[in-house]
Amino acid sequence: MQIYDLGDMEIFVSKLEMGEVTAYKSPRGVREWLAKPHAQASAAVFEGECESLLKGLPESSVDLIVSSPPYCMGKSYESRRDNLDDFVANHQVILPEVCRVLKDGGSLCWQVGFHVLDGVATPLDFLVHEIMSKIEGMKLRNRIAWTFGHGLHCQTRFSGRYETVLWYTKGDDYAFDLDAVRVPQKYPGKRHTDGPKKGQPSGNPAGKNPSDVWDIPNVNANHLEKTAHPCQFPVGLVQRLVRALTKQGDVVLDPFCGVSSAGVAALHEKRHFIGAELNPEYVQLGLERLRATLKGEVRFRPADRAILEPSPTSIVGRRPPGFASSIDMSEAMVSS
Ligand SMILES: C[S@@+](CC[C@H](N)C(=O)[O-])C[C@H]1O[C@@H](n2cnc3c(N)ncnc32)[C@H](O)[C@@H]1O
Repeated sequence: MQIYDLGDMEIFVSKLEMGEVTAYKSPRGVREWLAKPHAQASAAVFEGECESLLKGLPESSVDLIVSSPPYCMGKSYESRRDNLDDFVANHQVILPEVCRVLKDGGSLCWQVGFHVLDGVATPLDFLVHEIMSKIEGMKLRNRIAWTFGHGLHCQTRFSGRYETVLWYTKGDDYAFDLDAVRVPQKYPGKRHTDGPKKGQPSGNPAGKNPSDVWDIPNVNANHLEKTAHPCQFPVGLVQRLVRALTKQGDVVLDPFCGVSSAGVAALHEKRHFIGAELNPEYVQLGLERLRATLKGEVRFRPADRAILEPSPTSIVGRRPPGFASSIDMSEAMVSS
């Protein structure tokens, strides 16, 4: 590792086989990094507020922005005072800036969940879309439901098991590589029933469109990607976006990068990465993960890995006496 101290700019460089991972404390450093050509799969992580990084980046300079901003849910990295008004006020500043640095034809994927206060839920993507719909040229392509099997068990409302990713493109001439993200057909044996192809398989052998509902386990305590961050992206979630919406050598930006999960996906797919993160501990963990990615040592769960159902004979799948095997709805049907 080389360490440079250039006045306001501190640079830690770790040169690796495929590219390099560099940490900056000044937006100027990242701007200069971006202007230089890079070997495949290089990353620059800015330690500081993304607002100042974004101001320092030139217009139309990145191909994909994927991020999950702070939600005002009392996570360790959030201010206790933050509320929905702050969420909206911060987004009114951030969203026009991220759209400014996005290239024409590029994509913005903004991942949020719900703000819940005293049992009252507010879908944060409603607030995001309200602002986005006023930014010229930005068009919503999908509202992806990201579903997952684990989370808090609620007693007074249904337990929350999905969040959303709003995917916008800047303009109409945008990149979308469906073939890079196809998933195996559900009914591969289905055949044409008439016409010239009668009897031949009717599905695309390369797989089907993954749809806008993505069941990908969230990163809980037992997940193989778990770090000290309380709510990191599963790498597979970003991997699918990176593959579909960019090509090799493109630049992916995450302005709230946490432990650089988006960067792991970007480097793994041979794209460049720029991240911003306030918390120095997360910056360091992210740098370690990025370097491990370049060395081919990172482990993550790909998006298309099937969700395992516990076998009824396994310890956790075996039903203790008295546990319901199905829910009897017959009474409800009779009395309705
Ligand atoms: C929801 S988390 C994102 C986690 C990330 N997707 C990952 O996989 O690790 C939001 C992150 O934004 C960081 N953050 C909050 N305000 C910030 C700001 N103004 N600039 C940069 N980072 C900020 C927090 O420290 C936190 O790590």
